[in-house]
Amino acid sequence: MAISDSSARTAELLALERKYCSFGDTVHYLDPPKVFVNCEGSYLYDERGTPYLDLQMWYSAASFGYKNPRLNEALKRQLDRLPQLACQYLHAEKVEVAARLAQYCEKRFGVKGRVHFNVGGSQAIEDSLKIVRNFTGKNLMFAFMGGYHGRTLGASAITSSYRYRRRYGHFGDRAHFVFFPYCFRCLYGLRRATCDIYCENQFEKLFASEYHSVWDPKVEASEFGAFYFEPVQGTGGYVIPPKEYFVRLKETCEKHKILLVDDEVQMGIYRTGKFWAVEHLGITPDIIVFGKALTNGLNPLSGIWAREELITPELFPPGSMCSTFSAGPLGTAVALETLRMLEEADYEKLVTEKGAYFLAGLRELQRRHPEAMGDVEGLGLALRIEVCKPDGITPDRELTDRIFAAGLKGDLEAGGRKYGLVLDVGGYYKNVFTLSPSFTITREEIDLAVELLDQLFRRCQMK
Ligand SMILES: Cc1ncc(COP(=O)(O)O)c(C=O)c1O
Repeated sequence: MAISDSSARTAELLALERKYCSFGDTVHYLDPPKVFVNCEGSYLYDERGTPYLDLQMWYSAASFGYKNPRLNEALKRQLDRLPQLACQYLHAEKVEVAARLAQYCEKRFGVKGRVHFNVGGSQAIEDSLKIVRNFTGKNLMFAFMGGYHGRTLGASAITSSYRYRRRYGHFGDRAHFVFFPYCFRCLYGLRRATCDIYCENQFEKLFASEYHSVWDPKVEASEFGAFYFEPVQGTGGYVIPPKEYFVRLKETCEKHKILLVDDEVQMGIYRTGKFWAVEHLGITPDIIVFGKALTNGLNPLSGIWAREELITPELFPPGSMCSTFSAGPLGTAVALETLRMLEEADYEKLVTEKGAYFLAGLRELQRRHPEAMGDVEGLGLALRIEVCKPDGITPDRELTDRIFAAGLKGDLEAGGRKYGLVLDVGGYYKNVFTLSPSFTITREEIDLAVELLDQLFRRCQMK
């Protein structure tokens, strides 16, 4: 298609979107939204064929690269063999994916369990809520400020942002939200070196007296069934907590019969360099929720692993939470291929090394732009740049927005070629670039990413 034709086509699509598409199922960070027509590896392509280096990879769902040949092939094979099957019947891929995940958890945590499937991350969160309610008889949960668990009604009740609940009436089961150990912005104004995890101590104090509202010491019962957490906060801005916090939190929860539900929807499947991000924290959760990268975004599949006691067929019988598309054969076939691929190569090493190389590049960039980059951190290929005012701490949302929009113009230049840069913005103050590049990203592409970020910071800062 000639460029003028494709631009006309883009304009036509945008006009149709304005008229016929709900805006509720998307987010318009850029207005009008950007249209892409192709993708490959670490790149998205616009209608002019300009490559946009993607540092967010569909919010970490396409971790193994766009059009990953091996995973695409697995999908095509399944398309030609058994693409459709109602969930009441069995197919091999479902059983094998469940067995491999449960066996991995048993090996890693020494705990037996089962796997239950659904379609999206929020739906799997709903399922985990049912399991907690069913096992504990309680419908109240603890969760973290800055946490994100999805936007269905149940998931919104345990997601901290009131903005997501505001229009939808009263949430009787709204979680009790607790400070996350976000050390760069410690809400108590303390420093990690000397704080002795003061924030966890504060949580623990809730149980010291019945008048602190959550615990009845006479019968040793809590009003809360579970504590929901992300081992690294995703939407909250790729906030990496200190391990010691979670070791203590686990003790506190165990002591008070509160289950730990680990939301790995964004950080699971090696994003942080471990299969489950919680493995960095040295604790064993009772339930793990997963989604996104397991199928590289090809066919949605999500699910939960729960320890046996919580999910026995007697306790959680057939029909407890089934959905027409849960464990569909296209998704499970890709998931199985993903798991095989992960077993054949050392992804821990691969992601950790690439992450360290990228982080070193970002730190160098921070030295060049200390007046705008307040914090730079990373765990594996989950990396963050916190954009701040020259005082190094005040969030600079305006600059973040300008950089985000400029990246999508597609007019950056490197090596005599035009590029765009795809970024994602998160964080409590919407001033954090949450970088989740493809695991297939090369060193040259990481260098290119740093170069393009450098150009964007230079271009967008008002000096
Ligand atoms: C940690 C976490 N949990 C749950 C969800 C919800 O998943 P989905 O968008 O697939 O419903 C997300 C989505 O970004 C997430 O990051």
